[in-house]
Amino acid sequence: MGTAKGHLSSRIILGRLAISAALLTVLAFLGCQHSDPTVSDSATNERVLTFNKDVAPIIFKQCGTCHHPDGSGPFSLLTYEDVRKRARQIGEVTRSRYMPPWLPAHGYGEFIGERRLSDDEIETIGSWVSSGAVEGAPADLPPVPQWPGGWQLGEPDLILKIPEPYTLAAEGRDVYRQFVLPTGLTTSRYVRATEIRPGNPKIAHHAIINLDPTGYAAKQEDEKDSPPGFDGMGLSDGHGLESPGGQYIVWTPGMIADGGSADMAWTLEPGTDLVLEIHMAPSGKPEVIQPVVGLYFSDQPPTKYPVQLRLDPSPIDIPAGESEYSVTDSMVLPVDVELLAIFPHAHYLCKVMKCVAVLPDGKRKWLLNIPDWDFDWQDDYTYAEPVLLPSGTTVSMEFIYDNSAENPHNPNDPPRRVLEGPQSTDEMSNVSLQFLPQSPGDGQQLKELYWRRGIQRVPGYYYAHFAAGVHSMVQGKFAQARVDYENCLALNPQFIQARFNLAHVYLQLKEFDLAILQYQSVLGSDPGNALAHSNLGRIFDQKRDPSRAATHYRRAIENDPNLFEPHNRLGVILARQGSYSEAAKLFARAVQINPDHSLAHVNLANAYLLQKQYALAITHYNEALRIDPKDKEAQTNLSRARAALKTN
Ligand code: HEC
Repeated sequence: MGTAKGHLSSRIILGRLAISAALLTVLAFLGCQHSDPTVSDSATNERVLTFNKDVAPIIFKQCGTCHHPDGSGPFSLLTYEDVRKRARQIGEVTRSRYMPPWLPAHGYGEFIGERRLSDDEIETIGSWVSSGAVEGAPADLPPVPQWPGGWQLGEPDLILKIPEPYTLAAEGRDVYRQFVLPTGLTTSRYVRATEIRPGNPKIAHHAIINLDPTGYAAKQEDEKDSPPGFDGMGLSDGHGLESPGGQYIVWTPGMIADGGSADMAWTLEPGTDLVLEIHMAPSGKPEVIQPVVGLYFSDQPPTKYPVQLRLDPSPIDIPAGESEYSVTDSMVLPVDVELLAIFPHAHYLCKVMKCVAVLPDGKRKWLLNIPDWDFDWQDDYTYAEPVLLPSGTTVSMEFIYDNSAENPHNPNDPPRRVLEGPQSTDEMSNVSLQFLPQSPGDGQQLKELYWRRGIQRVPGYYYAHFAAGVHSMVQGKFAQARVDYENCLALNPQFIQARFNLAHVYLQLKEFDLAILQYQSVLGSDPGNALAHSNLGRIFDQKRDPSRAATHYRRAIENDPNLFEPHNRLGVILARQGSYSEAAKLFARAVQINPDHSLAHVNLANAYLLQKQYALAITHYNEALRIDPKDKEAQTNLSRARAALKTN
């Protein structure tokens, strides 16, 4: 628009004079100050604002995403008639900024897709209303936007669908439902983008996808009566879900699907379920919904790995009638990060959300300010520019809850004490922050912090101990990882993965006897675990017990013929015992599995040399030297083999 305010005011006057006195009230409502009618004379050359030329471009862009026939808005706003009928109300809801709905206060963090009318746009709508809501010339009307029902991002690589439709009752409270979506994948895939199509915009309010690598959600679904899905927000404590690769996969009404980027794809492992949570509001008649999720894969592994951390004060316990109940939480960042996005979450009682960063130099940065929270418009927010937060920054949040009768959103009448919990009538408080670390090592530190905070919050959550252990182990912090896995197994002795990793950590800490016990325990429930056999073989090797080592290497090879280690190591044991021909077969398989392992080539060549197969020996010494030209043993033995070949 870019019209100067002076011009606008003369248009208002012009319009008001041209129309009836009834509009005077509208003008008063709109807070119009221009009461001197004589100004109009100097402005008679001003054009009257029209729907087609001035208002339609604003409404189509800012309102049409929801207010179209299949949209989430209660009515369509795509024609002059639709808009004229509600002109006055539209003037009001835009002036008060009730529409388009957008919670964060302007100027406290700049976000992509901010749904916000400019002051000019609001004035244009207001002036158009007060000047009689004129239609204008048909030629001025911009093309009416279309919202075809199909995939916004094109045909997905994998479509996951709830097996049967779910029926939402006509009346009653909002429903939060978890639908478990097994992927059926047999190999891991990189997911570049995800599109959620809830399928019934009249009732679907908000949807989010989490991952469940434990199978717990699927078990819950099986145990509940009325499939598909089961009620609840998230899962009960002790079985948290994971966000996919530190991303938010969210659907909100009027959202434009995000095509994602291959460099920030996330890895979906076989056996991990997607869990789709949908927030639905009854419409007055029974409604059917059958959400569909489309996944878009990338062939390239990602190069950037965002990590999600959470501020989550605990516990919440809001007395009935309390109108200023405040909760806070903070954390200190262990590494430099870019903050990419923020996702605050609370239910109906929350009224204010604030999130700030205090940098190491003491400077304060607003990350988010929601002065008037409305659960119905929950959303995640991506920063227009990543926010740089150096190591040592304190990120903190405060939420304020109003559990008084004055809070129009209070689900309890009269108010009652409200505790933390997954139902919408319980409360929650957390802020998820999506960070981009500078290196994979920094990412591991952030993930470790995430799970350590999880342990603090729910000490009995076995998976958090396990995950903290994994991230410690990857950083080489074996003593710490040992404590984590031991704690995990104390809570859930059945968790084989933790037992396997603990054995590995014992091995690193040279606690061989403890490692043997753990591997044997793994084999007790999973006798064909090839890696457990292979690692046991190595321990018995270390303990100079070649016969037990050989037994385990053989079991490892039986169970997984593609493991390098047991072939190579069993070959060494057999060569030492003089079984050169059997050893040569094992080394030959080892170099087949890993052609770039110089030591395996040397081993194979040595086995040939000892059997006087000089030509073959020479080939593999050469291979070893191709990989590592400085290999002394290969150099010496190559000359030997060449000399032997000449004299024989
Ligand atoms: C993100 C989706 C979305 C966008 C964008 C949006 N609306 Fe709405 N609008 C809704 C929904 C949902 C409702 C019904 C619930 C409510 O009133 O909060 C609604 C309600 C309304 C109402 C009725 C309010 C009342 O008090 O009954 C008006 C008028 C309205 N919108 C106008 C607009 C205009 C004008 C725009 C653009 C400037 C707009 N909306 C943009 C979703 C949206």
